[in-house]
Amino acid sequence: MDRRDFLVGTGLLAVTPTSASASQGVDWGAVRREFRLDPSLTNLGLFYLASNPREVRDAIERFKRRLDANSHDLMPEQADEVAAALGQYIGGAAGDIAFVPNTTIGLSIVYGGLKLRADQELLLNDQDHSWHRQSAELAAQRVGAKVRIGTLYENSSTATEDEIATRLRNSITPQTRAVGITWVQSSTGLKMPVRACAQVVADANKGRKQEDRCLLIVDGVHGLAAVDDDAARLGADVFVAGTHKWLFGPRGTGIAWVNPQVSDQIVPLLPSLSNRSQTALLGPGGFHPFEHYYAVKAAVEFHQRLGRNRVAARITELATRFKDGLASIPGAVIHTPREPRMSAGLVCFDIAGQSGPQLVERLSQKRIQITTAAYRIPYARIGTAVINTQAEIDKTLKEIRALT
Ligand SMILES: Cc1ncc(COP(=O)(O)O)c(C=O)c1O
Repeated sequence: MDRRDFLVGTGLLAVTPTSASASQGVDWGAVRREFRLDPSLTNLGLFYLASNPREVRDAIERFKRRLDANSHDLMPEQADEVAAALGQYIGGAAGDIAFVPNTTIGLSIVYGGLKLRADQELLLNDQDHSWHRQSAELAAQRVGAKVRIGTLYENSSTATEDEIATRLRNSITPQTRAVGITWVQSSTGLKMPVRACAQVVADANKGRKQEDRCLLIVDGVHGLAAVDDDAARLGADVFVAGTHKWLFGPRGTGIAWVNPQVSDQIVPLLPSLSNRSQTALLGPGGFHPFEHYYAVKAAVEFHQRLGRNRVAARITELATRFKDGLASIPGAVIHTPREPRMSAGLVCFDIAGQSGPQLVERLSQKRIQITTAAYRIPYARIGTAVINTQAEIDKTLKEIRALT
């Protein structure tokens, strides 16, 4: 009996969903039991750094044993398998993927390796993560280029695709060498309309030479394995994401996917271990915790078996339940768009009279883990992972209500 049969047989996947909600038909309680979560804690911050399900832990252990037995046995074929699995998962080619230890290093490698001139600029916006911004700033400083920070909407909860696309169109200049955006913003929970942004960038590129081409660089970390879409087909030129958040992959793993049409525009910043492809060369070399890299495949397979659509539907259902509940609490302000089209699994909010950090502290006294968004205004924030439950959402709402 292979692993797949085992999971179906034990009821992880109860029936094929046919009903209105794609998340139905999965025994989410059984999925949750695959994780070693602290049962006394309601953890609505699971996106922060992944907990690993049993089969990922087992895969890490398996590779670790082989390396412990003979550390010369570096299993390069496993790297090919991981790239193939990830390529399939994101709708791209294995050769267009580089392994990186996390989103931050992936973005740093991409901006740092981008062929950038002093007369060019990188255009980010005020809702990109500070490590994304710093990656761009460090790269720009090296060549004397500029980083410009735009604002793509007035109000996160009511922002529209049109508003964002229009503002982006008005911000790009002939000097803009790259536009950096975040698929799902951890500052507001807003899901950026990446395809609309890609169209704006494509229009701006008309008539430009390859060395002047504007690249769309996406920090995709809170979309990968939370949104049911092909990351490699969003229209971005570069997609970077840690696989150690929503994908539940081993900690210290991530990917950078590069559109093959622009791979000649990004040169490696560091020596690489891999000569799999031009893009694979971007992955930093030296020795790594290989058991973690190779076990990413187990995380992809875990998600594929659950089904990307079911995972996204479950995440959305829980987030919507939280937003709906919050909306009925006096003094609550939701900064994340209510509609799933413009949001995913992160919900940012405020409660009148309490700062984000105060709310984190008060809920932690009730054994509820939430976070704040580490931005200018540290909104309170939750993330709904597939292994959270409706009861956890309801309990959190009840405690928030009790605090108001
Ligand atoms: C939007 C965003 N980008 C990047 C990061 C950093 O991710 P990593 O730990 O994979 O470098 C975070 C933080 O968790 C984030 O919220």
